[in-house]
Amino acid sequence: MKGLILSGGKGTRLYPLTYTCAKQLVPVANKPVLYRVIEAIKEAGISEIGIVVGDTAPEIREAVGDGSRWDVGISYIPQEAPLGLAHAVKISRDFLGDDRFVMFLGDNVIQGGISGLIRQFESSGANSQIVLTRVANPQQYGVAVLKNDQIVRLVEKPRDPPSDLALVGIYMFDHNVFEAVNAIRPSWRGELEITDAIQYLVDHSYRVNPYVHTGWWIDTGAPGDMLDANRLVLDEMEPKVEGYVDRGSKLIGKVTVQKGAEIIDSVIRGPVIIGEETRIVNSFVGPFTSIYHHVLVEKSEIEHSMVLEHSRLIDVPQRIENSLIGRNVEINRSPLLPKAYKMVLGDNSRVGLL
Ligand code: DAU
Repeated sequence: MKGLILSGGKGTRLYPLTYTCAKQLVPVANKPVLYRVIEAIKEAGISEIGIVVGDTAPEIREAVGDGSRWDVGISYIPQEAPLGLAHAVKISRDFLGDDRFVMFLGDNVIQGGISGLIRQFESSGANSQIVLTRVANPQQYGVAVLKNDQIVRLVEKPRDPPSDLALVGIYMFDHNVFEAVNAIRPSWRGELEITDAIQYLVDHSYRVNPYVHTGWWIDTGAPGDMLDANRLVLDEMEPKVEGYVDRGSKLIGKVTVQKGAEIIDSVIRGPVIIGEETRIVNSFVGPFTSIYHHVLVEKSEIEHSMVLEHSRLIDVPQRIENSLIGRNVEINRSPLLPKAYKMVLGDNSRVGLL
């Protein structure tokens, strides 16, 4: 079996974080989502992986390389524009050949990995297996209707959802999917939809098995989803302290301190992860917070947030909460007059003031 990861497209809903970074490379609990996807595929015993890339190809190649870090082979498949998930399958024909494969959206995080799913697909002999889960907002996803545990209909982002079973971004196929992706036409949004390709398989009597996933699953498309994914992954992490914690500091609950990090005169209440070479000085870091590498947090309080690399939070007068702070960001108290808020914010930034 082979793996196909989709990492093309533009992360417009995660702006401004993704002006400067592919959305699949935004870290969840200090590890890029794309690395988590590669690890899940490798764990399922698959070591030949193709990654479909678009505008952000150079960054993705630079971050992932040839896959030797995970002991997998990586091939890059350039997509000229985000013309749809089924289009991505279509252009991957040479890489996939006639092998069965799992397609995994590069911005999805799922609880429990995919080994069980792959085993089930392999033993079933079905032509395709799709993963479904119950959601509160089916309008935002592809939605499936089941009858006697079989799929009868699939609709992409329905205004009036016929069920609450959303398509999770993990799909398994055999080579018959190429007949489907070549037969379908672009949707109203101009994309070749994978939901239409699966509907084609159902309509042409191919065996498409549904698998209903009951753990958590997050499509990290929007900032709120990112914080949710961060919270869920942190909650399941085994704590490990590899950095330095001084005697004046207190670690409570599940706290991971990565190599080269320093915690000085601070209180960290887990679940929390503190990244490599990051310094936390005289501060409080509260539950569900990930601070990435080379960050400085001094005389400040933060919780339920994510801070990306090389940022500095110094002497912030109120606790920061529910926030997503990008790379190289500086937040500090300024003694300079006039006494006023002084900001340099990128396009689409959002600030909540007290
Ligand atoms: O996350 C699950 C949902 O993913 C499913 O419920 C939907 O049925 C499915 O269409 C898809 O919807 P999204 O609107 O969330 O897909 P998005 O455009 O965000 O793309 C998902 C990933 O695939 C993302 O990492 C970018 C990549 N991609 C997307 C397109 C359209 C490509 O690599 N090439 C593309 O042409």
